[in-house]
Amino acid sequence: MKRLHVITWGCQMNMYDSGRMADVLAPLGYVPTPMPDGADMVILNTCHIRDKAAEKVFSELGRLRRLQEQRAADGGRMILAVAGCVAQAEGEQILARAPYVDIVLGPQTYHRLPEMVARAALAGGAVIETDFPVEDKFDFLPDAAPQGITAFLTIQEGCDKFCSFCVVPYTRGAEQSRPATAVIAEACRLVAQGTREITLLGQNVNAWHGEAGGLGRLLHDLAELPGLLRLRYTTSHPRDMDDDLIAAHRDLPSLMPFLHLPVQSGSDRMLKAMNRGHTAADYLGTVEKLRSARPDIALSSDFIVGHPGESEADFQATLALVREVRFAQAFSFKYSPRPGTPAAVTPDQIPEPEKERRLTELQALLRDQQARFNAGCVGLRLPVLFTGPGRHPGQIAGRSPFLQPVHITGSDNLIGNEFPVQIAAALPNSLSATLVEERVCA
Ligand code: 5AD
Ligand code: SF4
Repeated sequence: MKRLHVITWGCQMNMYDSGRMADVLAPLGYVPTPMPDGADMVILNTCHIRDKAAEKVFSELGRLRRLQEQRAADGGRMILAVAGCVAQAEGEQILARAPYVDIVLGPQTYHRLPEMVARAALAGGAVIETDFPVEDKFDFLPDAAPQGITAFLTIQEGCDKFCSFCVVPYTRGAEQSRPATAVIAEACRLVAQGTREITLLGQNVNAWHGEAGGLGRLLHDLAELPGLLRLRYTTSHPRDMDDDLIAAHRDLPSLMPFLHLPVQSGSDRMLKAMNRGHTAADYLGTVEKLRSARPDIALSSDFIVGHPGESEADFQATLALVREVRFAQAFSFKYSPRPGTPAAVTPDQIPEPEKERRLTELQALLRDQQARFNAGCVGLRLPVLFTGPGRHPGQIAGRSPFLQPVHITGSDNLIGNEFPVQIAAALPNSLSATLVEERVCA
């Protein structure tokens, strides 16, 4: 047995990839371990989306190097691998600054990990694999290990949209969809292993085109799987919210009434500068259609403040859009220049204190909306899928249809099932509830 420790930064796709890297290494005898100390291999799965991503990687590598030296002093060897989007973007530069790294691999080459590990074991030098291979990695991955009651399933990767600020099209490559048969087979395996809720993943998940009819059709197919109680998908682009997909929200009870649909800005001028390919009115029109298809749908978004050229009026347009939509939750970020992206070299960068001020104001509004949304759930009867023990003894935790964590006092044997609860109180990021007894006894 060899010990494998994986450190994951970034999005849900990286979490999924980390699991798949462990799957690929399992036949070689690698077993996941929760601590890096004494591990035979450590993978740092990195994110490049914002901030000083590369600097963070080098400082973590410095820490891991000491553990690697310790392992060598004990007569063992710790293989150190850097994976993910920073590895893809920085490639050779990682080895130049951290020559003790054994393997550098991009997000599209991890099916080749066994071969890379063998080469790293033999060769004195490091192994680097950051090309975009012609083969599809999914054709070479073993079946995924069980994930639990809720699970992620990647159906689409990469992006062809080239928003001005975003590194994803460069680090993840061109838009690619997995075939419907492969997705359905993976979903069936997950359900057989006890999964009750699947979140379909993709950088542009609703651009999925693995079958005619797109994501709407795929959701219909998946909704037929016996034992699969809930479906979600993320992250979507407003331009790909087609009528079939909107209709799926009306027609499929297992498609949860929650949608993360990033708009980034409420200003048409900024949306154009960002190359988003839609206007604020287009977005509001889509929201209206979604709400008529599924009146209880809760919405979430990402926002960027301080994109180059953003004026006070542009920022006010974002606040106005937020007020109009009323989000259930949202993520918001200060614009962070990414090497190699058009916005990074645009003049008219916004000073840091101004970005900070706008972010604080936007986040106050979004926090208020989230609190109102959660408070609006008090007194409602909602189905909750119980996923595990709660924070305190005798408590169990689950998720509402709107993705809120919900805590109740209840027994472990409810875990893995969906039961109706009565929402008793709203906390800033979760709900507490009581079980609606009749249904449990029935
Ligand atoms: N600066 C700030 N936020 C960014 N995002 C993507 N690129 C940047 C950037 N350069 C945000 C967007 C995206 C989310 C995943 O991260 O809001 O939707
Ligand atoms: Fe990045 Fe835009 Fe593609 Fe989303 S749609 S991954 S923000 S380039």
